[in-house]
Amino acid sequence: MSFYLGIDVGTSGTKTLLIDEAGKVLAEANAGYPLHQPKPGWTEQDPEDWWKATVKTVRGVMRASKLKPDAIKAIGLSGQMHGSVFLDKHDQVIRNALLWNDQRTAAECDEITSAVGGRKRLIKLVANPALTGFQAPKILWLRNQEPRHFDRLAKVLLPKDDVRRRLTGDYVTEVSDASGTLLLDVVRRKWSKQLVSKLGLDTDLLPSVVESDEVTGTLTSEAAKALGLTTSCKVVGGAGDCAAGAVGNGVVKKGVLSTSIGTSGVMFVHSDEPQYDAAGRLHTFCHAVNGKWHMMGVNLTSGGSLQWWIDSVIQGLAGVPAKKRYEVATAEAEAIAAGSNGLVFLPYLNGERTPHADPQARGSFVGLNLSHTRGHLTRSVMEGITFALRDSLDIIQSLDVPVRQIRASGGGSTNPMWRQMQADVFGKKVTTLEVEQGPAYGVALLAAVGDGAYRSIESACKATIQVAEETAPQRAAVKTYDRLFPIYRGLYGQLKDSMAALAELQ
Ligand code: XUL
Repeated sequence: MSFYLGIDVGTSGTKTLLIDEAGKVLAEANAGYPLHQPKPGWTEQDPEDWWKATVKTVRGVMRASKLKPDAIKAIGLSGQMHGSVFLDKHDQVIRNALLWNDQRTAAECDEITSAVGGRKRLIKLVANPALTGFQAPKILWLRNQEPRHFDRLAKVLLPKDDVRRRLTGDYVTEVSDASGTLLLDVVRRKWSKQLVSKLGLDTDLLPSVVESDEVTGTLTSEAAKALGLTTSCKVVGGAGDCAAGAVGNGVVKKGVLSTSIGTSGVMFVHSDEPQYDAAGRLHTFCHAVNGKWHMMGVNLTSGGSLQWWIDSVIQGLAGVPAKKRYEVATAEAEAIAAGSNGLVFLPYLNGERTPHADPQARGSFVGLNLSHTRGHLTRSVMEGITFALRDSLDIIQSLDVPVRQIRASGGGSTNPMWRQMQADVFGKKVTTLEVEQGPAYGVALLAAVGDGAYRSIESACKATIQVAEETAPQRAAVKTYDRLFPIYRGLYGQLKDSMAALAELQ
């Protein structure tokens, strides 16, 4: 029997899963690391922390499974998208990596858009507009703001691909994560030489690009020793965490969507052809499925808003140990009726990507009155996060994309109340899976495909992923949310200028 590892280099920590070739999960290990926020809106991490967490979690699953090192045939890598690991010619990390939710690059986004002659032209070249989180504006920021660092720059890698460099010694990325750099010709699935040169950059800065299930190398003897594996262990392309999560959810055919609530919130839809939202509100990226694409809407502070609310604001839940805080807070929210008695929360705590693309958007509660309790506020935070996902769903539906099934994953799937809330806010059935392990599972399956255990990613998903439960919308709650949602939608436009003025003060 062959065994595979899936490693997901996330924002709060790294998760490694060990599966057998039938897709059964045998062991899981997690390791956390800090997020640095040197200024409001800036987010950074030290790539060395990702590597240490990779070593620790791989050793953890090997210890737990008691397998011999040569049982592991291949590794799949996933990770937070868009981040920038800046390396010099000796492979030394030049400075901390800028992350997907970093908001410092608004000026560079304008610079990119004008360098190519406008937003329409940019969308034609790389299928997407310039957004602050993407990688290309980060490279320009380094050139504009830290020229001494830029002068040393030899390579720029995405977070999971820097872990790959340390595993195999190769500079390689794959199409799904490369799509989020803004430098990939998403339709042709290769770097846009035209855009790279218009920005005055060199393609030598970039790694080579493969499909997600392609083998990119084998472990170096140093890496094999560090991880306790062998040098015949392969590493496959893998995928950015959104596409990897979708594979792990079986979202590999037309009409199937997934929602995922982690730090960010993602509404993801598979597509057989590259499809666009002309207004550029949704991202059009390559899927981790060979020759396929996807669209998605991303909310920057989704589960992150609930975490902020529970851990930073109501941490004083009297006498409740930190571990139980979520349970207690969400139980209080469950006791409140749908609609939080006319209270709306806007989850734009660190700017927003879909649909507003506004780094200066800010969060708010609107409609507070004296009858509102802590439970109302917690429920309203959860409803605001779910409304933000519906914003993306509505754009997807307006493009005539068929919506046959919505699969919930992440924080929004484990809590039955949140599953029901999603069904009610979307007005659609929401399904969950038998085993939901997120991006790490998706890339462990890609590793199995790359090793030849399955013919294709579609057949791997068919053989390993089963839908467990279906939650149907409740008519009364759907009605309430249908009245509340337009109010939520309208608030951003009404508050936008005040949000920007407040952001200037922060
Ligand atoms: C996707 C995105 C986030 C990160 C989170 O575009 O920015 O979902 O990948 O890890």
